[in-house]
Amino acid sequence: MPNNNSAGERDRARPPRHIAIILDGNGRWAKKRGLPRTAGHAVGAETFRKIATYCKNIGVEYLTVYAFSTENWRRPEAEVSTIMKLLGKYLHEAIDTMERDHIRMKVFGDVEGLSPELRALVDKTDEISRRYEGFQANICLNYGGRDEILHAARRYAADYAAGKAEGELTEEGFSQYLYSAGIPDPDLLIRPGGEVRISNFLLWQCAYAEFYFTDVLWPDFTPEELDRAIAVFQSRDRRYGGVKNP
Ligand code: FPP
Repeated sequence: MPNNNSAGERDRARPPRHIAIILDGNGRWAKKRGLPRTAGHAVGAETFRKIATYCKNIGVEYLTVYAFSTENWRRPEAEVSTIMKLLGKYLHEAIDTMERDHIRMKVFGDVEGLSPELRALVDKTDEISRRYEGFQANICLNYGGRDEILHAARRYAADYAAGKAEGELTEEGFSQYLYSAGIPDPDLLIRPGGEVRISNFLLWQCAYAEFYFTDVLWPDFTPEELDRAIAVFQSRDRRYGGVKNP
């Protein structure tokens, strides 16, 4: 794979603040074992739980994962329904963990397109998140990067028309209309599963993110692989378009 220069150990004192991950490879993981694709999603959901816990333990403040895109509705109905069930189960179980560990969880995406049951769970996790300030997991669900930008532009235009927004629109001001309002941009974007593209994920927010691609399929992703990605990230030279030591 390109882009995965090996690096030493992860520097424990400098975790990235925000990691974003495209969950990919569940279907292939299952196929390799002669299992239905849905079995890959079930193991993928467990992997998410493990990696989120690990991120929290090593001092990462935000983890954002791409679980279901606006395009994923095109998959067979049985697969979509299994993914939705897994998400519902996960959100339901997460409520206790959020209360116990004082962590936050948000859904990014067009929640209007979700079932009433899922929307109720999203409302509940939103309500709990408002009370805490710890680690925050964001699950992108019925999410598309372009869709998010359009949605934000429409909301800004409506606020402007209603006299509720300034005429001078800045990047910072516009960011407040995105699902990620108030959250720092991802420092590191990880894509397991062997594909080397962004697939309409966090298009605005990843302007300066470092990318890490790996062939490891998401259900096989481990804390050790995350450490490797972080070490590579830490070895990179982030210049944000400027120059170092001019
Ligand atoms: C991509 O693998 C994965 C998805 C589209 C679904 C991800 C959803 C879950 C893991 C369910 C629960 C999620 C959370 C966050 C609790 P793929 O099916 O595209 O794999 P392939 O490229 O090998 O076919």
